[in-house]
Amino acid sequence: DTPLRDLAAAKGKVIGTAVTGSKLTGTYGDLAGAQFSSLTPGNAMKWGTVEPTRGSFNWSEAGQIVAFAQAHHQQVRGHTLVWHSQNPSWLTNGSWTSAQLGSLLQNHIGTEVGRYKGKIAAWDVVNEPFNEDGTYRSTLWYDGLGSGYIASALTWAHAADPDAKLYINDYNVEGVNTKSTALYNLVKSLKAQGVPVDGVGLQAHLVLGQVPATLQQNIQRFADLGVDVAVTELDVRMALPADSTKLAQQAADFTSVVAACAAVARCVNVTVWGFTDSDSWVPSTFPGYGAATPYDENYAPKPAYHGIAEAL
Ligand code: XIL
Repeated sequence: DTPLRDLAAAKGKVIGTAVTGSKLTGTYGDLAGAQFSSLTPGNAMKWGTVEPTRGSFNWSEAGQIVAFAQAHHQQVRGHTLVWHSQNPSWLTNGSWTSAQLGSLLQNHIGTEVGRYKGKIAAWDVVNEPFNEDGTYRSTLWYDGLGSGYIASALTWAHAADPDAKLYINDYNVEGVNTKSTALYNLVKSLKAQGVPVDGVGLQAHLVLGQVPATLQQNIQRFADLGVDVAVTELDVRMALPADSTKLAQQAADFTSVVAACAAVARCVNVTVWGFTDSDSWVPSTFPGYGAATPYDENYAPKPAYHGIAEAL
């Protein structure tokens, strides 16, 4: 079969996967390098990973993934700079003034984006800023800095690497709904204020048979605002055990998502959140669910793999 990355390139698209640095060897490394044109570190660039103790940094897994990507002529999507989760305990347990929080965040963004300047195609600068009802999520950042933390973070990231594309990323924003409309209104207002925002990331952690019917329409409305769109964390989980009926539905779901992106010029990247069921966050996060990726635990391509290929 033609590798997915070659099929995607022929359509002007990028196909990516989240990866775990320590696994980039053997069959896992062969497939990650051969099939995908973009890598996202699944955890390696999160604040809690890179600065577990204040002022003491661990860039080893992040650096390994960036080096692997360069050796395989792949893009890297940096993930993620500003989030409510997977922060170091010294940060979350501290009691900070608003001014201190602002300078902590500015330094974090400057340090991390600056370190990989020129090597990251796109950053998920802000991750998961919204509640389901479209209000801002109460987080360390929102509570301490107000909604302006989003514009500040984008501005600081742009200063540290003016060539990186800067994204806001969230889940349950794939279809046209209250939450995606809040994201739409935010991006529109940031653009009007001249804040450097280049794209929106639709995570797309989907449930079998539930690809939103308005996915392509939603991608198109963001494109029409003048930003790029990426599907950043695609997986399609099913109640276990998998069977051939479910795997066929899953293939159709992957086809629908990739086809929706392929149909919109400004949808630039589809990234799966792990390419093998042996490296998926689903079973531990959604008990009873799994088999959410295009390859099984033994690296055999599933119908979902062919479902992706079919839309490219
Ligand atoms: C997940 C990782 O895959 C897991 O290994 C980790 O334990 C928790 O985070 N949305 C995101 C990703 O933006 O960073 C999350 O990744 C999955 C949900």
